[in-house]
Amino acid sequence: MDQKIHIFDTTLRDGEQVPGCKLNTKEKLNLALRLEELGVDIIEAGFPISSPGDFESVSQIAKVIKHATVCGLTRAVQKDIEVAGAALKHAVRPRIHTGIGTSDYHIKSKFNATQDEIIARAIQAVKWARNFTDDVEFFAEDAGRTNNEFLARVVEAVIGAGATVVNIPDTTGYCLPHQYGEKIAYLINNVPNVDKAILSCHCHNDLGLATANSIAGAMNGARQIECTINGLGERAGNTSLEEVVMVIEQHKKDLGGLYTNIKTQMLNPISREVSDVMRMPVQPNKAIVGANAFSHSSGIHQDGFLKDAQTYEIINPEQVGAEGSKIVLTARSGRSALAYRFQKLGYSFTRNDIDVLYPKFLEVADGKKEVADADLTQLGDAHTPEQN
Ligand code: KIV
Ligand code: ZN
Repeated sequence: MDQKIHIFDTTLRDGEQVPGCKLNTKEKLNLALRLEELGVDIIEAGFPISSPGDFESVSQIAKVIKHATVCGLTRAVQKDIEVAGAALKHAVRPRIHTGIGTSDYHIKSKFNATQDEIIARAIQAVKWARNFTDDVEFFAEDAGRTNNEFLARVVEAVIGAGATVVNIPDTTGYCLPHQYGEKIAYLINNVPNVDKAILSCHCHNDLGLATANSIAGAMNGARQIECTINGLGERAGNTSLEEVVMVIEQHKKDLGGLYTNIKTQMLNPISREVSDVMRMPVQPNKAIVGANAFSHSSGIHQDGFLKDAQTYEIINPEQVGAEGSKIVLTARSGRSALAYRFQKLGYSFTRNDIDVLYPKFLEVADGKKEVADADLTQLGDAHTPEQN
């Protein structure tokens, strides 16, 4: 089995659904170009039938993107599919992403239908979509809570109807990683025509397990991961692109040689761009792209980090385009960090100087969240007036 994980970015669709994150066509177009530069394999550009503005965005993106596949979302409804087909008309690689709910919640509460009726609608939707493109992805919404035997019937039916990718969304972020992994393994082992399609993970983060679930899916044979920059998406968000990419990068060997085509040095710059354009701040402790992802503030950590960065850092910040590691001085910092920062500011203090300065530093630090360079300069200059 090929070990490449196709990265399907849905920042412009699932990410853009977040209240306050809506983008205009120009903003979507600029971001799509950056995503292509980043190396994503598929850009889900929008939901063309949802509004004239989104139709326009998808068609403009379809015209300019040359390498990545451009995808439009639809319900399993003929009109949706026709509109998506029209929006994707000029794409070099168009994909229609259609689907329907498959869990009992969806079948009974949403559609008041039977399992057989859902399968019939799924087959019909894939056939309609195949009239517009050979690249059709089917999503079995709420697959995370769908009984595996029924899900296998759905997957077999839609592949039979011409789906080339089958998305197994954990729409509500409910699954545990081993359960999601077992679901993918079950499909790989029980769907007779599964070799004719790629299985895709689309995991939401309601329990903070989206990244773990997507990786479990890939470990069990899924070869596409759907994700967003900064993990944006409905409710608690989607799988975060930067996290899955770096898990795969860091654990290549443990994961049997899985790889992606993402240019990891772009991860921090693109995270900031998405945060700015969507006016959605990134939490400081966010993995890979948070402001504190490479900051060290406790004395024990700072001492170890200054002796050997790898003691406390598993990723080189340059590898993900971050500004660099930071030593933050707080009341929890130790003498090593203080000496390091004084040296950076141009002072050459001995160990004895630092011993004298340290209690004074703690006095300042106890009154503040973080000790700034200006505070240190004051302390340093007072200690060595001749350096003024
Ligand atoms: O979470 C989900 O199930 C979705 C589908 C529309 C793919 O976003
Ligand atoms: Zn989703």
